[in-house]
Amino acid sequence: MRRHVITTAAIAAIALLTVSGCSTRSAAGSGASAAAGFAKGATTGVALPSKTSENWVLAGALFTNGLKAAGFKGDVQYAGASTTVKDQQDQISTMVTEGAKVIIIGAADSGQLGTQVKAAHDAGAIVIAYDRLILNTADVDSYVAYDNFKVGQLQGQALLDGLKAKKATGPYNIELFSGSSHDANSKVFFDGAMSVLKPKIADGTLVVGSGQTDIKQTATAAWKAENAQSRMDALLTSTYGSKPLDGVLSPNDTLARAIITSVKAAGKPIPVVTGQDSEAESVKSIMAGEQYSTIDKDTRLLVNEAITMVKDLQAGKKAPVNDTKSYNNGVKIVPAFLLVPVIVTKANAAAAYANDPALAPLTR
Ligand code: BGC
Repeated sequence: MRRHVITTAAIAAIALLTVSGCSTRSAAGSGASAAAGFAKGATTGVALPSKTSENWVLAGALFTNGLKAAGFKGDVQYAGASTTVKDQQDQISTMVTEGAKVIIIGAADSGQLGTQVKAAHDAGAIVIAYDRLILNTADVDSYVAYDNFKVGQLQGQALLDGLKAKKATGPYNIELFSGSSHDANSKVFFDGAMSVLKPKIADGTLVVGSGQTDIKQTATAAWKAENAQSRMDALLTSTYGSKPLDGVLSPNDTLARAIITSVKAAGKPIPVVTGQDSEAESVKSIMAGEQYSTIDKDTRLLVNEAITMVKDLQAGKKAPVNDTKSYNNGVKIVPAFLLVPVIVTKANAAAAYANDPALAPLTR
C-alpha cells in the first residue's frame, strides 16, 4: 500500500470536525458513487470481524442503535472467533442475497473478500470499508477510518517521549510489535511508527535488542494477546537475561497489556509500552502508571461518520470523503473519510476523555 501525506489544511479541517463531534461535509471530494438513492426500509448490512478488541464490541452496539435511530433496517453481524474469515464471507453473501443496499465491512481478513464484494456490486449494493481497508479489489466504494499512518506516528513519538522522560539520554533497549498480517492496518501503523523510530535506530539512540525490526518478525497473529505474550516471554529469555528492556512499541492496548503481563511475570520493571484504542483496562493501567500511552479513536465518531455515509447514499447523494490519495488497495485508490487520532498519556487522559462517560470516571 502506498501512503501519501495528507495536507496540513486537511488535517486541521478534520480535527475541527472530530473535536466538534459533528460530521459536516468536507469539500475535498466524494467517494462512493451516488446511487439514485434507495428505500429507507432496505437493509444496511454491517459485517464486523471477531471481537479482538473493545472497539469492535462498541461498534456493534453503536451501529445497531444508530442505524435504528436514523430509521434504517440494520443487520449487524460479527465473525466468530475461530472460523472468522469464512463466517464473514458467508455473512456478506447473505446480506447480498437479502437485498442490502449498503454493506459496511470491518474486514476479518483484508485480502479475502474480493468475491463477496464483487457479488455485492453485481447486485447493486454499495460497499464501505470500515476501519480496515479491503485489498486487491475494485469493488470497494469508500473507506471510513481514523488516519492509521498518523496512529503509528503518534505511537512512535510516544515511545520516544516516554523513554526520555524516564532517562534523559539513550541508548535505550526496545522491542517492536505489530498487528495481524491479515489486517491492512497493521502495516500502516507499523510504517507510521517506523517513520519516527528508524532514524533513532540508525543513529544508535534506540537499540532493538533482538534485532527483529521486520514486520514479518514483529507480527502478532490474529491480534491475539496470547501470541504477543508468548513472543515477549521468548524475547525476555533470549535477550534480556541481564540487560534492561526500556521500551516496547505495541500496536494496541490488548497487546500492550499482554506484554506488560509477560514482563511482570519475568520479575522485570515495566518498560515504556505504547497502545491504541483507549480500552478501559488500559486507561486504568495508564492512570496506575503502568502502560505509558494509548490512542483515542472515539468509536462513536467513526460509527457516526459511517452512518452519515449511509444517510447520504440513501438520499441519492455521494458519500462524503476528505482524502483521495492515501489508500491504494492494490487495484485502486479508495476515497476515504479519515478522522484524527489523539495520543493519550496519564498527563492528558482527563482532558482527552472528558466527554466520554465510560472513560472519564477512570481518570479521576
Ligand atoms: C483497528 C485497531 C484494533 C485492531 C485489533 C485494527 O484494525 O484499527 O483499533 O486495535 O484492529 O482489533
